[in-house]
Amino acid sequence: MKNLLVELGDRSYPIYIGSGLLQQPELFKKHIKSKQVLVVTNTTIAPLYLDRLLKNLSGYTVETVVLSDGEQYKTLETVSTIFDKLLTCKFSRNATLIALGGGVIGDMGGFAAACYQRGIAFLQIPTTLLAQVDSSVGGKTGVNHPLGKNMIGAFYQPQCVIADADVLDTLDDRELSAGLAEVIKYGLIRDIHFFEWLEDNIGLLLARDKAALAYAIEQSCLNKAAIVAEDETETGVRATLNLGHTFGHAIETGAGYGTYLHGEAVAIGTCQAADLSRRKGWLTDADVVRIIALFNKANLPVTPPTQLDAQHFLELMTVDKKNIDGKIRLILLSQIGLATLPGYVDQTLLELTLRHYGRQ
Ligand code: NAD
Ligand code: GLY
Repeated sequence: MKNLLVELGDRSYPIYIGSGLLQQPELFKKHIKSKQVLVVTNTTIAPLYLDRLLKNLSGYTVETVVLSDGEQYKTLETVSTIFDKLLTCKFSRNATLIALGGGVIGDMGGFAAACYQRGIAFLQIPTTLLAQVDSSVGGKTGVNHPLGKNMIGAFYQPQCVIADADVLDTLDDRELSAGLAEVIKYGLIRDIHFFEWLEDNIGLLLARDKAALAYAIEQSCLNKAAIVAEDETETGVRATLNLGHTFGHAIETGAGYGTYLHGEAVAIGTCQAADLSRRKGWLTDADVVRIIALFNKANLPVTPPTQLDAQHFLELMTVDKKNIDGKIRLILLSQIGLATLPGYVDQTLLELTLRHYGRQ
């Protein structure tokens, strides 16, 4: 088992990565300080892993909430059903919430934990690759609004993250690839060696080679933990984790939540960001080809949906947490392995990317 640390002073917490972690009750006991425990999961994950998790929780008073599965349910209404359960079962302020699932469950469970009685403890048990390499780490929690992705939320750190690589066995190939989009992101924004490793090993990752997956999860979490430790609330460098996300969120919202997987939209958005970085003169044509090739090899889409025209894209991109006074700010690449901080973009260049990248 690997044990990484997200260093945030008295709110520091470990990320455990390894095999068989869902069968280690002592790991749970170490981080649950209450008698009352609420497990939040969904209809897909419950039949697969809920019993395995519950076996670790004998001796606690455990309740479960099984939510509908899907990005379209990542809403305030759904979070409200978690509050209903907590209140109906008379859960106190010292209770613990366990989020068992992918990024949707982790974001909503964390948000419910942040809000219930102004904050109860919570554990992240990520079950998708995307959640293990990104969403479970760093304390971003929240829900979508019909007008904008992740626009309602809170920064709220978990007690620990328990990433059991075994659960990825049941993840379908499309979801595995979606997780790889965020893995590739770390290479692009700050780790050229990892990017090169991914170019060489993407086939092994797609074949679910255990050692390759473990390495990719660990490197991703190391990169994310370092960024979060430096900038927990995104006043600076943390924003680089949003490479491609302003385009990607516009795709998710514009196409309807759940049409594109988050990682798929991020893959397309990152290729658009690369195209814009080339138009700025920062990346070469060869760099962009190289980036698109890696996403392609990871079986990810690289071109935006045809029904989203440039005007609609622009409107959707004006709803983004990086914007200031309603003006779009983007993360771009100054080279492969180095992202820029958020910056205002030349509208003409942005429109060229929106009109021409992937449109021929
Ligand atoms: P998801 O949570 O929807 O999970 C994907 C699908 O896989 C779901 O159908 C889920 O039920 C299923 N699933 C989960 N684990 C499984 C398993 N082990 N076996 C079989 N099926 C399984 O999607 P995701 O890609 O994990 O997360 C995407 C969400 O994460 C988005 O809402 C995105 O905004 C959010 N996100 C948040 C952060 C953050 O920092 N908080 C970062 C990145 C993404
Ligand atoms: N996934 C972006 C962040 O955690 O900041």
